[in-house]
Amino acid sequence: MADVVVGVQWGDEGKGKLVDRLAPNYDFVVRFQGGHNAGHTIVANGKTHALHLIPSGVLYPQCKNVIGNGVVVALDALAEEIKPFGDLKGRLFVSERAHLILPHHCLQDVRTEGNATRAIGTTKKGIGPAYQDKVGRVGLRVGDLKEPKLLKEKIAQHLSAHAHIPDLPTLTALEDYLNAYAPLILPYATDTTALLWEAIDRQQKILLEGAQGSMLDVDFGTYPYVTSSTTIAAGACSGSGLSVKDIGKIIGVAKAYCTRVGLGPFPTEDLGQVGAHLREKGHEYGTTTNRARRCGYFDAVAVKYACRLNGCDEVALMKLDVLDGLEEILVGVGYENTSPNLEGAKPIYKSFKGWNNSAGVSDFNALPKEAQAYILALQEIIGVKIGAVSTSPKRENMVLLP
Ligand code: IMP
Repeated sequence: MADVVVGVQWGDEGKGKLVDRLAPNYDFVVRFQGGHNAGHTIVANGKTHALHLIPSGVLYPQCKNVIGNGVVVALDALAEEIKPFGDLKGRLFVSERAHLILPHHCLQDVRTEGNATRAIGTTKKGIGPAYQDKVGRVGLRVGDLKEPKLLKEKIAQHLSAHAHIPDLPTLTALEDYLNAYAPLILPYATDTTALLWEAIDRQQKILLEGAQGSMLDVDFGTYPYVTSSTTIAAGACSGSGLSVKDIGKIIGVAKAYCTRVGLGPFPTEDLGQVGAHLREKGHEYGTTTNRARRCGYFDAVAVKYACRLNGCDEVALMKLDVLDGLEEILVGVGYENTSPNLEGAKPIYKSFKGWNNSAGVSDFNALPKEAQAYILALQEIIGVKIGAVSTSPKRENMVLLP
């Protein structure tokens, strides 16, 4: 059976910590979309790990980690990320079908972002251009590195499809780049779908780890201010090759407040003191780009919508302790005016009394009464059970609700 963890806000919900917490119960952790635009931070044994492409199960030796076909892979970034672990052979598997992010994809991303009328506030990692090439059927894939003769032909086709683009590398330069990384990456390249099917047949447990968040989904997010992949649970199947029938539980991850990086609608954003409190106390600076995140109140309308899209069985509420010290906490429970992508939506707020001292608590009854009331009210509004609440970055500080 395969369970899914997905973000139900605009990314950075704390999925890494949750997956790290769940990983000991799984044989495989699988990334199914996105690329190194993701940044999953895990604090374990006093050490902070920032993962971008490698699934969060890597910190557990029994866990096998899969970069699925739906992911876009930058070879240089992956090689850098493998380095601190030494050798991950037998523990990391990369789909031969995964598409490559090439150096000129990054340049293309940077160039588009420089054009004020087309800027999205991307991570400038080349994600959008690589996915464009995938659906445009001119992309290069990890498996192409296996056949140097065919590779040359494919590079030539790829380059001719991009003849209009500035900064295009020569065939030889791109070939040299790919051949330089091939020996490092090919030992990890395999048919990961077959690997996962075998695991299912052996009754092994698989955890599919979403990146970014549902509100950044290319179809259902705040388009065009979205990423270029299917970030919701539906993408877990197309991005791994598992069948819908293989999916068991779907867990949504939300922060107890809300953040967003980059441009685009964010109805409950707070540009005043509360936003500043959340940013500083919650260390809301991007793991990948170090950009200051926009901060605001929990948007229950967006989370409820995302839970419906994903079919969440339960929600994990992260970073509750960051709200410690606020006198009043607002929650967006409706919008005065709506549009499909939330442009111009004005939130209707419900007010809650703040609290102190939820940090480090691991038992629901030991939480301040106001924090308990806040959790139960959110659960009621979004209509999905809150199964776990995180009260510090540490692995062990997690309240489990019955
Ligand atoms: P891209 O994925 O780099 O193309 O960026 C598209 C949008 O998704 C931008 O608003 C980014 O800030 C946002 N984004 C991409 N990856 C993440 C992430 O891991 N966390 C939060 N936002 C992200």
